Amino acid sequence: MTTSQSTAIALEHGLERHGDTASASRASALDAATVAGSVVFERIGKTYHSSAGPVHALQDIDLSIPSGSIFGIIGRSGAGKSSLLRTINRLESPTSGRVLVDGIDISQLSERELVQLRRRIGMIFQHFNLLSAKTVYENIALPLLVAGATPAEIEPRVLELLNLVGLQDKRNTYPTRLSGGQKQRVGIARALATGPEILLCDEATSALDPETTHSILQLLRDINGRLGITIILITHEMSVIREIADQVLVLEQGRIAETGPVWKIFGEPRHEATRALLAPLQHDLPDDLRRVLRQTPPEGAAQSGFERILQLSYTGAGGLEPDFIRISQALAAPVRLVHGGVDRIQGHANGRLLVAVPASHALPELPPLAHGAAAIAHHIEEIGYVPVL
Ligand SMILES: Nc1ncnc2c1ncn2[C@@H]1O[C@H](COP(=O)(O)OP(=O)(O)O)[C@@H](O)[C@H]1O
Ligand SMILES: [Mg+2]
Repeated sequence: MTTSQSTAIALEHGLERHGDTASASRASALDAATVAGSVVFERIGKTYHSSAGPVHALQDIDLSIPSGSIFGIIGRSGAGKSSLLRTINRLESPTSGRVLVDGIDISQLSERELVQLRRRIGMIFQHFNLLSAKTVYENIALPLLVAGATPAEIEPRVLELLNLVGLQDKRNTYPTRLSGGQKQRVGIARALATGPEILLCDEATSALDPETTHSILQLLRDINGRLGITIILITHEMSVIREIADQVLVLEQGRIAETGPVWKIFGEPRHEATRALLAPLQHDLPDDLRRVLRQTPPEGAAQSGFERILQLSYTGAGGLEPDFIRISQALAAPVRLVHGGVDRIQGHANGRLLVAVPASHALPELPPLAHGAAAIAHHIEEIGYVPVL
């Protein structure tokens, strides 16, 4: 099937474009090589020329985004995230390299083909970019009007979209009367109007509070699962990546710092930029313990009044999870959980636990407890000693 055929069919079938039922799974979308919505970056470079001289916003970006996936791009401000995202619909053209959408080099498209490409790629923004003089209905209808649809075609489609984003009762409301979350739902409905195969999200939840962020991310996940649309989202918050993405790219000063499945990058971040971005999510030593922590063990009888603090880390690899009976047996001591937690990311246990064992107990060698069949954690580290509370 050619791309234009598949687009025509997509428009005809509206929202159910990638699946025959509403429950069409993401796995089946990923499995089917013919499903549209893949993006490949080949040695992308982007240099801006500003009055202060050239800005190398992107360098040597080689990356493949599978169709049907939720792909997160994270990095600090100025890392090049928006520049990269905007090459996918040619809002920016790379200075070097190629972008392939569904295997087609988009730099070769004619003006007409570019218009068609943009109908297959929806986009949502941090500040929603709604037209304030138009109602919710009119905002969502706009891309359809521009695409030449008739009012009779537009109405059922807009109602379907309003239903999808849960705004049936806001049809005639103006954007200024909506909350941030509702505005973003309108943005999402508008972006989906022409039945795109890819949805680009540039900091789409960055202006929202955590609860609203969660509800928008759930909506995006639902859309991805139901419609099989590839979602590529930019954020500077690792919590967003953790909640929704399958794969993540960490950008640092225009280059790939690292990329891979989210659980792996969270479990074993290799790049300093990734660690810095992850820091806000990590269970550091609580203040009350930090104040009384000492690095050297107390002498002799004083030991009975102290506990040794160990940090057990779980990267998600190999299905290893915290098992307190095994931990206690391996350490040959009663073990108390002091602080920490485990997240489940894509089914992998990932996190850090601080546990306390009596300082008077002789500990076994720790390194063997982080390897092979005897492992009780992926990393074990002695943090120090604290007085028994
Ligand atoms: N139109 C532009 N002209 C000049 N410099 C730009 C332009 N757009 C972005 N930049 C610069 O390119 C770098 C990457 O920007 P951007 O892609 O917006 O990063 P991010 O989205 O990660 O914050 C920054 O140094 C930014 O100042
Ligand atoms: Mg940006």
